[in-house]
Amino acid sequence: MPRSPSYLLPCVAGLACLSLAVLLLYKVDDFAAQTKTVVGHNLQPTPWHLFPPKTFSEESRHSRIYKILHCSYLTCSSYAADTKRHRYEPDSTAHKCPEFFRWIHQDLEPWARTGISAAHLKEARKFAAFRAVIVGGRLFVDLYYACVQSRAAFTIWGLLQLLRRYPGMVPDVDMVFDCMDKPSINRTEHGSLPLPLFRYCTTQSHFDIPFPDWSFWGWPETNLNPWDEEFREIKRGSQRTSWTKKHPRAYWKGNPDVDSPVRTQLLKCNHSRLWGAQIWRQNWGEEAKGGYENSKLSNQCNSRYKIYAEGYAWSARAIAKGGQEFMESLSMNRIYDYMFHLINEYSKLQKFKPVRPSSSLEVCAESLLCLADPKQRKLLERSTAHPSPSPPCSLQPADSDLLKNWVQHRRKTIKDIEDMKLIPYKDIKS
Ligand SMILES: *[C@@H]1O[C@H](CO)[C@@H](O)[C@H](O)[C@H]1NC(C)=O
Ligand SMILES: *[C@@H]1O[C@H](CO)[C@@H](O)[C@H](O)[C@H]1NC(C)=O
Repeated sequence: MPRSPSYLLPCVAGLACLSLAVLLLYKVDDFAAQTKTVVGHNLQPTPWHLFPPKTFSEESRHSRIYKILHCSYLTCSSYAADTKRHRYEPDSTAHKCPEFFRWIHQDLEPWARTGISAAHLKEARKFAAFRAVIVGGRLFVDLYYACVQSRAAFTIWGLLQLLRRYPGMVPDVDMVFDCMDKPSINRTEHGSLPLPLFRYCTTQSHFDIPFPDWSFWGWPETNLNPWDEEFREIKRGSQRTSWTKKHPRAYWKGNPDVDSPVRTQLLKCNHSRLWGAQIWRQNWGEEAKGGYENSKLSNQCNSRYKIYAEGYAWSARAIAKGGQEFMESLSMNRIYDYMFHLINEYSKLQKFKPVRPSSSLEVCAESLLCLADPKQRKLLERSTAHPSPSPPCSLQPADSDLLKNWVQHRRKTIKDIEDMKLIPYKDIKS
């Protein structure tokens, strides 16, 4: 008689369960280690601009694994994206967008005739840190590399807030971003196939498409608040002393060691009596220890003039266009309108229907907040947008002559200044 398998079965079953559990744990571990997050888990720095790898403050490996999996896979499932489409129709009753919005046409001009094809994007991905695809009002993100500090998370938060501000109106798009300052799509080298790559900076010699930078939603590493709060503080700081009581000097504070000739030259002008200028070195390491108290923008308005000196990539274009008036026109509402029109115009150029990439993960406000550390979360929450009661401003048509004039005017101003005979301040002051 064969032995009854009645006691063998539970044994085998038990053993199988145990190995299954071990296997599962191992798989979960493996799965978490392959899940890239917007705050930088499991991502390498961009090879074209290296920076120290991120460290995370979670107490243990176990809690990190839990956080990565929980935030990435379980938070957006109940997220009710507004799937009702309200197609954007230009509204003639809406107020006109500021003139500088016309740069949108100029920035997208390289694709005006050819459109943006899947091949363009495939190639552009090689220069990107992440890809953001919006389909039906939901945001899907494919992460390729880590971004320095929390730039990626805050930029992606900005996109989510745009979706909140104009529910159902943001068209389906497929965009790639890099998040380092230096533009990379050189017009000479990429002339035959211009690559559409979004980043925070560009120059006239590059195809990179400028996009509002992360700090409008806050910059936790430097204690910079969301822009609307920061601007109120700058204004308050500026009004602390009246114009006549302000130092009749030009003030600059920043980092002179960024390979920028103008900043190197500027250091030579550091003499109140001789050149009427005060030049201060921003020491990022020291300031970080002191909580950036001394580099607060709101404490930098005690002189009458503020010097802007181009770093290696930041564009002077915006700053040069009229001080406080320009800043007033840069409320967050305007930033969202700018993003809206940039994305809307870009989407019209797409020659394909954007679809969710199979390798991407959905990102929603909940999942991003879930991954953020407490300091980041505070800023993100404070920069939450609300649905707009009115449609976006109406974008004025392209006017290449107007832009040409601006560029010429700017060139002339710079040339005039370069041609000026340098007269020491002490000889001209009355
Ligand atoms: C763009 O590339 C050309 C050709 O390689 C080079 O001469 C030029 O300096 C580059 N321009 C910039 C702004 O890097
Ligand atoms: C500029 O001059 C002031 C006063 O002499 C000095 O304290 C400051 O360190 C100088 N700045 C730089 C960047 O050397």
